[in-house]
Amino acid sequence: MAPRGWFIVFEGVDGSGKSTQIELLSMKLRDKGVDHVLEREPSDGSIGRFIRHYAEAGDRYLSPESEALLFTADRFEHSKRIEQILEQGTTVVCDRYYHSTLAYQGAAGVDVAWLRELQRFALKPDLVLLLDVDPERSLLRVSGRTLTVFENRSYLMRVRDLYLGFAKDGEMRLLDTARPVDEVEEEVQRLVEGLIGVKLA
Ligand code: TYD
Repeated sequence: MAPRGWFIVFEGVDGSGKSTQIELLSMKLRDKGVDHVLEREPSDGSIGRFIRHYAEAGDRYLSPESEALLFTADRFEHSKRIEQILEQGTTVVCDRYYHSTLAYQGAAGVDVAWLRELQRFALKPDLVLLLDVDPERSLLRVSGRTLTVFENRSYLMRVRDLYLGFAKDGEMRLLDTARPVDEVEEEVQRLVEGLIGVKLA
């Protein structure tokens, strides 16, 4: 049986540079022959597609509790897929996982303890990287496209505060992204190297 793959998650507010860093890490892993797949939440499954449509439609008509249940249902289905991939010995790099629900729906007023309880089934990532950025700055980065229902400044400030609290509690590694992309990239590499034991630089 192949040794289990690693489960690496990127978190951060919209526009924190997750996609860029995930791409850069993926190229490095590919160079070094580390078998991996890129995943994301909301997932590409049917519930995830519904959520994306909702996020882009412009009207946040659902209560945050319903949002939490939808994101969590999407994750329940997605987690089965992730588990199969890990079992095959392939590493999974996922753009968002359950901390997104704790931070985003928590920031919308949902009881974080209830949100945590809902995530009990979720897989425990081996490494969670928080790409931290001031929402003031990150919203500038995404301003080239139409904003989703989750993207407004005061809301994302609360999302960020919750994320920072999780980092303080040791649930995720905090990376300051107010630096050149290659510096952040190096730090990501160091942290991933420390986990998987393969030199990436
Ligand atoms: P995503 O498509 O990842 O946005 P981006 O690529 O800009 O990071 O996610 C869509 C939105 O859904 C994003 O604003 C964050 C939000 N979200 C939640 O509110 N709760 C969740 O559990 C997840 C996974 C995402």
